[in-house]
Amino acid sequence: MSNNNIREAILELKKRKNAVILGHYYQRHEIQELSDYVGDSLALAQKAQEATADIIVFCGVHFMAETAKILNPSRKVLLPDMEASCSLAESCKASDFAAFKAQHPDHMVISYVNCSAEIKALSDLICTSGNAEKLVRALPDDQKIIFAPDKNLGGYINRVTGRNMLLWNGVCTVHDAMQAEAILQLKAANPDAPVIAHPECNAALLEVADFIGSTKAMLSFIKKSDSHRFIVATETGILFEMKRENPDKEFITLRDDKSCACDDCAYMKLNTLEKLYECLRDESPEIVMDEQLIEAAKRPIVRMLDMSKTLGIIK
Ligand code: 13P
Ligand code: SF4
Repeated sequence: MSNNNIREAILELKKRKNAVILGHYYQRHEIQELSDYVGDSLALAQKAQEATADIIVFCGVHFMAETAKILNPSRKVLLPDMEASCSLAESCKASDFAAFKAQHPDHMVISYVNCSAEIKALSDLICTSGNAEKLVRALPDDQKIIFAPDKNLGGYINRVTGRNMLLWNGVCTVHDAMQAEAILQLKAANPDAPVIAHPECNAALLEVADFIGSTKAMLSFIKKSDSHRFIVATETGILFEMKRENPDKEFITLRDDKSCACDDCAYMKLNTLEKLYECLRDESPEIVMDEQLIEAAKRPIVRMLDMSKTLGIIK
């Protein structure tokens, strides 16, 4: 089938089966184009919670589809490729994490949404990169905290809030591989372009960034900025939305420096138009979860969404 035929077939199946397609900014552009909502992890979790369609097709990675199922368990949740994992989720196994947590019984656990449902069930509060700083600031100063699994995001939050959260030793392999030296070279060649970076990047890179924020925060920054050119340190999928929203602005990436071709998330890119079509047609692969796990993992996610509303981060 040609791409046009696949597109038409997906739209027809979506209508006939009363499905909604949620897509992350890091998805292939042809998937973003077909999605009913494209967003960051936080916005997509909220959309999943509110979804009334019979089927939610989650075009993102496994922990995102799992979060959708946890928040809206009566819906059928599909993920085009079950292998679409995440290095952060992979770095934090439930048995290891439970042992670590047991060593620090006086600490509360905040987990970045990029983790398995089992880790969420062991957590007191979930965060995303879009709300982590504000959620941590809202907690009492003397509250001891374990932050898992992203040591880069956790380290960044520690630095900006002055906290001393205990960090799990996980990284996003995509953002962690981006090098400050390469960014500095791009900066020297493009002095008019501010550097915008995702907080999953390593500390040395964040040190040379002019703006640090989640995917959605980066998009807002670009829209409001007077600059016309930007050096972007995050996964390449987001360039589609950046260019769509700002057709007259220019985006420079590590790829332009030829020093790094590491800025594609192999997990995110596993989802393709063909797999999206087959998944809607066959209603498989489906996220199936144990009810007890859903209940245990739901509490800290709902707490995150409630706190995010109270703090005015989401409506
Ligand atoms: P956000 O969508 O929260 O910015 O997260 C980026 C990411 O790496 C998702 O896997
Ligand atoms: Fe995980 Fe990084 Fe890929 Fe996001 S970009 S899914 S954090 S590996």
